Amino acid sequence: MGIEGNIGHLFNRIAGTYDRLNHLLSFNADRRWRRRAVRKLTPCDKALDVAVGTADLAIEMVRQRKAHHVTGIDLSEEMLRIGREKVGKRQLDDRIRLESGNVLDLSCPDGHFDAVTCAYGVRNFSDLDRGLREMHRALRPGGQLLILEFSYPDNKIIRFFYDFYFTKIMPAIGRKVSQDPTAYTYLNLSVKNFVWGEGFVQHLQDAGFHNITFQTMTFGITTLYLAQK
Ligand SMILES: C[S@@+](CC[C@H](N)C(=O)[O-])C[C@H]1O[C@@H](n2cnc3c(N)ncnc32)[C@H](O)[C@@H]1O
Repeated sequence: MGIEGNIGHLFNRIAGTYDRLNHLLSFNADRRWRRRAVRKLTPCDKALDVAVGTADLAIEMVRQRKAHHVTGIDLSEEMLRIGREKVGKRQLDDRIRLESGNVLDLSCPDGHFDAVTCAYGVRNFSDLDRGLREMHRALRPGGQLLILEFSYPDNKIIRFFYDFYFTKIMPAIGRKVSQDPTAYTYLNLSVKNFVWGEGFVQHLQDAGFHNITFQTMTFGITTLYLAQK
């Protein structure tokens, strides 16, 4: 199994408890982060949400009328299955289409989308720069890019407590609820080892984006990046 297969498999394993754990481990802040991020979008016709998972960002985009139609792609069939259930329950099937796909090799023509988004997905790309280049390719000139990703608090005291929660408490709760022995240790390590802030901006520039801004939320636990093609 290649790296993509491993990642898809990991998310297939934890898909059933993914939403519950997100809300539990973040004390529901993840809902607020997605809502705040989506508010920054200018309403558009066609959006692509890569690493769509269980479709929370896609649903929020339609709910806030920021995109008329959202295509969501993901490697994990189980995450997509749960996402489709949520979309169906909200009767949004005609507005949100969820497909199996790999962001490193998108099937859409160049410049097809008005907005490309990704929440908590980029740190899982096996090749970050290739994924960002594909997202850039999928976007029309002048189109909007929105990325939400975990980051680390700047304040040393907050960082100390966050680190403890993140490396000790979160993996333990994740293990217990998801019944997966390793997934939440991997997920937390993937945050610690990932670039954020100016470091991430450099990757966006290298992929060809401009007008790049970023804004931290909740002491810097999450960062919202906005850019244009
Ligand atoms: C932490 S989840 C985020 C899901 C969702 N966007 C959210 O806000 O909750 C990360 C997702 O990225 C997907 N993923 C990782 N690498 C991918 C790739 N190369 N192409 C498509 N999806 C990918 C995983 O399958 C997983 O569903």
